[in-house]
Amino acid sequence: MNKSVLITGANAGIGKDTARQLAMLNHTEKIYLACRNRVKAEEAKKDLEEKTGRKVFEIIVMDVSNLNSVRNAVMSMNEPVDALIMNAGGMGGKTPEKITSDGVTQITATNLLGHVYLLDEMIKYDKLKKTALFASSEAARGIEKTGMKRPSLKTSSVKEFKEVFNGKAFGNDFDAMQVYGVIKYGGTMWMSSMARKHPHLRFISMSPGGTRGTQGFDDMPLLQRIMFKYIGMPIFMPLLGLSHSLEKGASRFVEGINNPAFKSGIFYGSKKNVLTGKLVDQSSIFSDLSNQKFQDNAYEAIRSFLY
Ligand SMILES: NC(=O)c1ccc[n+]([C@@H]2O[C@H](COP(=O)([O-])OP(=O)(O)OC[C@H]3O[C@@H](n4cnc5c(N)ncnc54)[C@H](OP(=O)(O)O)[C@@H]3O)[C@@H](O)[C@H]2O)c1
Repeated sequence: MNKSVLITGANAGIGKDTARQLAMLNHTEKIYLACRNRVKAEEAKKDLEEKTGRKVFEIIVMDVSNLNSVRNAVMSMNEPVDALIMNAGGMGGKTPEKITSDGVTQITATNLLGHVYLLDEMIKYDKLKKTALFASSEAARGIEKTGMKRPSLKTSSVKEFKEVFNGKAFGNDFDAMQVYGVIKYGGTMWMSSMARKHPHLRFISMSPGGTRGTQGFDDMPLLQRIMFKYIGMPIFMPLLGLSHSLEKGASRFVEGINNPAFKSGIFYGSKKNVLTGKLVDQSSIFSDLSNQKFQDNAYEAIRSFLY
């Protein structure tokens, strides 16, 4: 059982509810809320303490899209944690295609590059004892009903993955909804490669499923936001098996780190055609996910922006 857990992007949405659910477990002694905005983090901490009646939360200021911020955050940790939940992410804000000083798109920096660096630093300085969980998405294997295409890399070579991460693969055709799935695919492949390279730790990729009650659609243009957030997600998506409550989404992350039945190197998500219900190994839906060469190529490609 995990006594201490660090969660990135813990001030809202699934990250915050994961923190709440973990605090309700007696064996949890410490939860680090790694957030980019201290004011929002303080508000979340206060709310979590009120809701759970527990004073187990500690704030770490960390912007995962900024490597200096990630490094400083790791250096500020006095003790190792049992588990790390790499939850921060989404559609990359208002400028997902913008290239950061590290040479990747903003959507890659937020979902992936910062987490790659965070995990490397935590391993290097012995700050992680047991399990790392990456917030993936069924978009990484395609979601036909929502029009999110399956990633269609030609060879999944290192070069091709690099061009996914620096945006060149998409040219002027940068549609954040589609790019998001390809970035989550790259992240999931990196995690599977990490699992083989560090067998003493457990690496789980987990999709929370279609989860309502998050701020995930807030950066969309007004009409699209109304369609998705207030009509699609709460009304139509549940009827199609495409969404569930915040509590259910977050419970997948809690299970992912606490249940040893989830195997290292595997990506768990919903069954084909749905975004809720039972969890299955996603490589049974998209076989590229278990290709070790592709996994290692994603690993090499994303790390080329760091070292
Ligand atoms: N909701 C879904 O249906 C769904 C489905 C599949 C996968 N996921 C994945 O699950 C994760 C959580 O999603 P969510 O729906 O809960 O999203 P959300 O409500 O938008 O919350 C995202 C959290 O990440 C934080 N964050 C964003 N950029 C950050 C950065 N650069 N550094 C530190 N923190 C940052 C946000 O902080 P601020 O408040 O400061 O912005 C917020 O706390 C994401 O990785 C998402 O891709 C979600």
